[in-house]
Amino acid sequence: MEFSTRTIHAGQPSEPETGALIAPIFQTSTYEQEAPGVNRGYDYSRTNNPTRARLEAVLADLEGVQHAAVFASGLAAENAVLQAYLRPGDEIIIPLDVYGGTYRMLTRVFEPAGASIRQVDLGDHAAFERVLSDRTRLVWIESPTNPRLLVYDIARICATAHARDVLVVVDNTFATPLFQQPFQLGADIVVHSVTKYLAGHSDVIQGAVLARDADVFEPVKFLQNATGAVPSPFDCWLTLRGLRTLELRMERHAANAEAIAHALLTQPLVRRVYYPGLREHPGHDIALRQMTGFGGMVSFELDGSIDEVISFVSSRRFFALGESLGGVKSLLCHPARMTHASIPGPERAKLGLSDSLIRLSPGCEHRKDLVADLLEGLEAVSAARVSTTGGANARPLSFSQRG
Ligand SMILES: Cc1ncc(COP(=O)(O)O)c(C=O)c1O
Repeated sequence: MEFSTRTIHAGQPSEPETGALIAPIFQTSTYEQEAPGVNRGYDYSRTNNPTRARLEAVLADLEGVQHAAVFASGLAAENAVLQAYLRPGDEIIIPLDVYGGTYRMLTRVFEPAGASIRQVDLGDHAAFERVLSDRTRLVWIESPTNPRLLVYDIARICATAHARDVLVVVDNTFATPLFQQPFQLGADIVVHSVTKYLAGHSDVIQGAVLARDADVFEPVKFLQNATGAVPSPFDCWLTLRGLRTLELRMERHAANAEAIAHALLTQPLVRRVYYPGLREHPGHDIALRQMTGFGGMVSFELDGSIDEVISFVSSRRFFALGESLGGVKSLLCHPARMTHASIPGPERAKLGLSDSLIRLSPGCEHRKDLVADLLEGLEAVSAARVSTTGGANARPLSFSQRG
């Protein structure tokens, strides 16, 4: 079965009792038992629920493994993995560019509890090998990363980590299983913010953990029930509905991202464009090897002042200013003040996260409208400079020029 067929048919037969083409939402907290402890596979909806079980079966199928557990958010999913595997004294290796919430959970929750975080450029393999130690328990890969869309060689990192008995977790949120299959590259665990492309309509907060091996999965599955951060049946149903158009949506997101990246490249007010499909992008060759599409995200640095960046992101017609990404309706954000604000300023600077970086999540609108919206914004920045200074020479200092 091909990918798009699986999003519609895998684990989703018509409902057996009535023939309903789309199974109903099993909006129940508990189940009637025939005798104490005798049930039909369900006893309490924190532990298991038929709508949730359907969603878990589809996600597992799409990532090509047997085991999936969904959670009430991407961070709840990550927390379950970290709680299952990171003990006091253990080390975790993370990339320079990592989702701000992941960084916050590690530094504010797991580090105070005794774990150590080693942040390294996973694109520098020698540096990665140097930080691996006898205490390393997990390697955490995001690829492409949030927000600079850096691409790391998952197969190579897995091979090196496995030689030291270290588990590798891949956050596959940005690529989705359509464009990247981390388990085929050697990953032990995959996590998702289902909130994003998988659900796809900016109406659900949800996460998932997947694993190939039952032994690796079991502690996470245990924590799903034991700590209880489970999504509602309704949210699971919404995600099932969203997943059926995953391929269609991703194709449109990716085509829009490509058109936008190329349009921005030619703009004098754009200092740098981050998009894995560009030949000069860090990891482009790896992306060609390990992905089947470059994804739907584009980031860029505006060559301007903080006020200009704020004015640009706050006044677009089709790109709403908001946290999150991966929905049919376009979003943009200013990572330094929003998604990555939980990383302190000096740390962000060290990591190369410029304060003038803007992250775009093109939706499924027509690319001409999206490109026009962005170019209008850049023109407005230029026009404002001319009207306040009377000439183009008096450009405000860009961030990189400030002391
Ligand atoms: C790459 C990545 N991983 C994990 C998360 C966390 O997911 P959630 O917001 O669903 O908790 C996010 C959220 O933006 C993300 O971008």
